Amino acid sequence: MKILAIETSCDETGIALVEGEKTAGGFAFSVLKHALLSQAQLHAEYGGVYPNLAKREHQKNLPVLFEQFKDEEANAIAVTQGPGLEPALWTGIEFAKKLAADKNLPLLPTNHMEGHLISSLAQTGSNHFSFLQKAKMMEIKNVQFPVLGLLISGGHTEFVLMREWFKYEIIGETLDDAVGEAFDKVARMLGLAYPGGPEISRLASFSRGETSRKKSVVSLPRPMLQADTCDVSFSGLKTAALYALRDMGGIQTLSAEQIADFAREFEDAVTEILLKKTARAMEQTGAKTFVIGGGVAANAHLRSQLQKLIEKDFSYAEFRLPELSITGDNAIMIAEAALARRLNGLDDATKEDFRAEGQLSIVK
Ligand code: KG4
Ligand code: ZN
Repeated sequence: MKILAIETSCDETGIALVEGEKTAGGFAFSVLKHALLSQAQLHAEYGGVYPNLAKREHQKNLPVLFEQFKDEEANAIAVTQGPGLEPALWTGIEFAKKLAADKNLPLLPTNHMEGHLISSLAQTGSNHFSFLQKAKMMEIKNVQFPVLGLLISGGHTEFVLMREWFKYEIIGETLDDAVGEAFDKVARMLGLAYPGGPEISRLASFSRGETSRKKSVVSLPRPMLQADTCDVSFSGLKTAALYALRDMGGIQTLSAEQIADFAREFEDAVTEILLKKTARAMEQTGAKTFVIGGGVAANAHLRSQLQKLIEKDFSYAEFRLPELSITGDNAIMIAEAALARRLNGLDDATKEDFRAEGQLSIVK
């Protein structure tokens, strides 16, 4: 089965054509074609994503990207319904509705967070390039349940438990800001470009490499660490960073090394919080698979620390680390989630009108 998927929930315009089949222990996907255009440069001027600008850009980019797909055949069209920025989501939905109607194909509204989760479970196939099709092969196999997913992006931070395919429970989430949002905001305070996550990560790893450094210029709190739940909170950490900068006399008084130290302390604080909560969530759920997904899952320090945690304290569980190429928003993940659901017999096709849902939850 082939699905053409469209993703426009935030500042990436993505289209992908993916073929999928059910295998003995899961699913196999061939990514036949994919296109992605990031608007990040444009939004950087505003220091964050501007919904109406995103909408205009998606409207402009979708037909251009679609040129490469116009002669392709598919069995269904999938589109991100939410969560995300509603003006941005609508552009993809309108485009997909028209396409599905023109080609007389089923239209599958798809959850963006499910896309992050399902695509993160997929691993490069043993036969990872099919030369006949020039496609990249991805496989989801040998998944042991329950699966614990830590979804970390610009808009979300949640621990999702999947006891069986496509049945989700949220067992912890942020009480305020998403972790990516905190990275972006603190980066902005430090005079770094949007998106701030990769910038903070780059400076933090520079700081870690500095052997002469003695003590960090700043010490930030680790909110919610002691709380008896899997919930997290980042707004206090963000405010603490703001006050600390102010007390130091502002960003202009800091040297490049001190800014890098600051970035490192922030990244350490976030990592410590997520590590502690992951340990709690693993204990609480007895999960046999742990997976991370979303833009922040690209963070090198977090990836290596989580890997150590699972190896050391939860060695019976398998850690599925997503490839860096799919951690950020893209349409491949939307195609894979839609394919997996359909191949498992779930019929999400809709002939009715459906709306963009900015707050759509992964729990149905
Ligand atoms: O999933 P995503 O591409 O879009 C949303 O659905 O929100 O996530 C974007 C977020 C941004 O906040 C960005 O700063 C963050 O992911 N991010 C990172 C890194 N790469 C991207 N955060 C920390 N470290 C990174 N290496
Ligand atoms: Zn995302």
